[in-house]
Amino acid sequence: MSLISNSINKAVDLLNKEQIIGIPTETVYGLAGNIYSQKAIQSIFTMKQRPTFNPLIVHIKSVKDLPEIARDIPEKALMLAAAFWPGPLTLVLKKQTTIPDLVTGGKDTVAVRVPNHPLTLALLNQLAYPLAAPSANPFGCISPTKAEHVANYFEDLSMVLEGGDCQRGIESTIIGFENEEPVLYRLGSLATEDIEAIVGALKMIMHDDIAPVAPGMLSKHYAPLTTTFLITNVAEMLNTFSNKKIGVLVFQNGIYNPKIVEQEILSPTGNLVEAASQLYAALHRLDKCKLDLIIAERFPDVGLGKTINDRLQRATKK
Ligand code: TXA
Ligand code: MG
Repeated sequence: MSLISNSINKAVDLLNKEQIIGIPTETVYGLAGNIYSQKAIQSIFTMKQRPTFNPLIVHIKSVKDLPEIARDIPEKALMLAAAFWPGPLTLVLKKQTTIPDLVTGGKDTVAVRVPNHPLTLALLNQLAYPLAAPSANPFGCISPTKAEHVANYFEDLSMVLEGGDCQRGIESTIIGFENEEPVLYRLGSLATEDIEAIVGALKMIMHDDIAPVAPGMLSKHYAPLTTTFLITNVAEMLNTFSNKKIGVLVFQNGIYNPKIVEQEILSPTGNLVEAASQLYAALHRLDKCKLDLIIAERFPDVGLGKTINDRLQRATKK
């Protein structure tokens, strides 16, 4: 029997029994459990094969629940929450002492967001606790944007709540604070330009080579199994290979070359939001085609193009 179901009642029942389930969000599917259940949180780390120092995001139903999770909240954090929640923005704030260490990897901060998906908001409204949820992929694999991706990754899971294709298709943007000022920890589905329009210039802390602030920044992440290249001129790079089964991933304009056996065009109209929403599903498809290599085109370095380039850059690392 398929573990994919659209029953919110069943989801509530399983979560109340300290089980974990797949949930849809507007960004990617999550692997969710009660933040106050040690059993559920342990299962998330075990199932994902995720190191326990890598903390989880707490999902709440409304900004009204924020004081239960965080304290000493900077003014600019409240401005961002007001502007973008529910939505693809995660805030890293000082945690309340009641938030279990297992959720925050022992840190004194907690990552929190209000997801923008009608089913998951309805689910959260029926629960007496928030949900901790990392992306529902094994550590280092491409994040899931369809219920079937989750079901394929985790056959032992008791349920995936069917919420259709994720509208944003890339993880939330993560913002932390230093001396009350916003700092970008992870590029994501919300463009940095939109955030800067509310709170002014963002400091960036996203180096792979220093101890990662957000361990999602570890270099081998979001990776297809197929060897992947990221390049400005795909057509030129194609000429350097012969006798290879090549898949190509491009932004807007298809490339005509007999060497290409699979091609993904993310947005024929040149829309970066649309392209971002299609990226992971396209990588999942290409990764299933038994290709020798994938050549991806570098995107324009503005708006969600920056996020797409960030994920493609990580996809090239082995
Ligand atoms: O869109 C999303 O954010 C999805 C959906 C399911 O909400 N979730 C997601 O979770 O991407 P995950 O676990 O794959 O990524 C969470 C990131 C990790 O890089 C983690 O290190 C970082 O958030 N994080 C969590 N708590 C943190 C904290 N206290 N300080 C710094 N980074 C933190
Ligand atoms: Mg993840």
